[in-house]
Amino acid sequence: MSSYKIALLPGDGIGPETMAATELVLEQIAMEFSDLNFETISYRAGAENYRDTGVTLPDAVLEGCLAADAVLLSAIGLPDVRQPDGTEVQPTMMVGLRRAMGLHSAVRPVKLYPGAPCVLQNTGPGIDFVIIRENLEGLFASFGGGGMVGDDVATDTLIVTRKGTSKVAEYAFQLARRRSGRPADGKQIVTCVDKANVFRSMAFFRKIVNDASQSFPDIEHNAVYVDAMSLYMVQNPWDFDVLVMENQFGDILSDLGAGLVGGLGLGPSAEMGDDHALFQPSHGTAPQIAGKNVANPLATILSASMMLDWLGERHNDDSCLAAAAAIETAVAEVLAAQMVRTPDLGGASSTTEVAEAVAAAITKTPVTDTSH
Ligand SMILES: NC(=O)c1ccc[n+]([C@@H]2O[C@H](COP(=O)([O-])OP(=O)(O)OC[C@H]3O[C@@H](n4cnc5c(N)ncnc54)[C@H](O)[C@@H]3O)[C@@H](O)[C@H]2O)c1
Repeated sequence: MSSYKIALLPGDGIGPETMAATELVLEQIAMEFSDLNFETISYRAGAENYRDTGVTLPDAVLEGCLAADAVLLSAIGLPDVRQPDGTEVQPTMMVGLRRAMGLHSAVRPVKLYPGAPCVLQNTGPGIDFVIIRENLEGLFASFGGGGMVGDDVATDTLIVTRKGTSKVAEYAFQLARRRSGRPADGKQIVTCVDKANVFRSMAFFRKIVNDASQSFPDIEHNAVYVDAMSLYMVQNPWDFDVLVMENQFGDILSDLGAGLVGGLGLGPSAEMGDDHALFQPSHGTAPQIAGKNVANPLATILSASMMLDWLGERHNDDSCLAAAAAIETAVAEVLAAQMVRTPDLGGASSTTEVAEAVAAAITKTPVTDTSH
């Protein structure tokens, strides 16, 4: 019997609703896979907590996250809850968690499931690539810093280090090794997305990715400028497998990616460190639909699948890997059936009904390809 301690951060807005839906699916997994046990501890943190106590991420919550085997977060932040400088509390908490947990690589799968709505008329041989966003440096290294000269000039500094870039590049090549390659022809290929034609920092980023590729002779690699990549993602997304890029570029392109495959309600993500990992949907707290039981829970549920995949790899636990695959297969089945879906996907089902449909579709399947 494997037992995993999971810290849950339900957060604000629709966060508690998509988290409750995901807990329902995890309970079903624990019933189906009797050798798996999840000890979940739910913590209060985020904008509501800040409104009530003046603290966004209490020390005890951070300690709980550091002590857990994995962290599952749904969404935090509310536009009307702001700090004295006018900014929202969300970046303080997210950047704080990333720095404290050393989460160097954010993983954003962009996968078009059969039955999911797609804005593209031509989906070619399919869309299934992963954006790896450097998660601690780049332009976000400036968070909490930056400079002002009077009321006339503002600066933020973009930082690229050999250590940080090597970590994210190695992660990208390792992930490519686990995946079955790009839809166009099955080639396993890492693409460095940068602006190396203009900036020294970006030429350096490309060089480090190139250096990392030497340890992965079985994986191909190339490089594309970020402006061209935003075109290719729309015109020929099937030509890509794993994309690795600077923090701010990844922040922007991952929303474009989610837009290609059905929207934010279908965009899971994982943030990986050497010792810790955090999993969360790409979306925010959608305050306008909060409390109505209509939010799409699939991004959070797929994030939980990524969490089990990571735990399975880390602990060499085949049962956990199979559980991860079972969740993804169940989500794919529900999407393909086109019966139970929330309004963002054109349906009329509730958050709870979608979670129940996914739970009902879960069966114990052997491990095949668990990569996202
Ligand atoms: N990591 C996070 O926790 C995170 C990320 C982004 C934004 N936020 C916060 O969320 C709040 C709202 O931000 P926003 O409006 O820019 O982004 P958002 O992602 O909350 O919403 C954008 C749009 O997508 C819709 N949407 C998002 N998730 C959905 C879901 N699961 N099901 C159905 N529809 C969904 C919303 O209704 C809205 O139309 C802000 O306070 C922001 O700071 C938090």
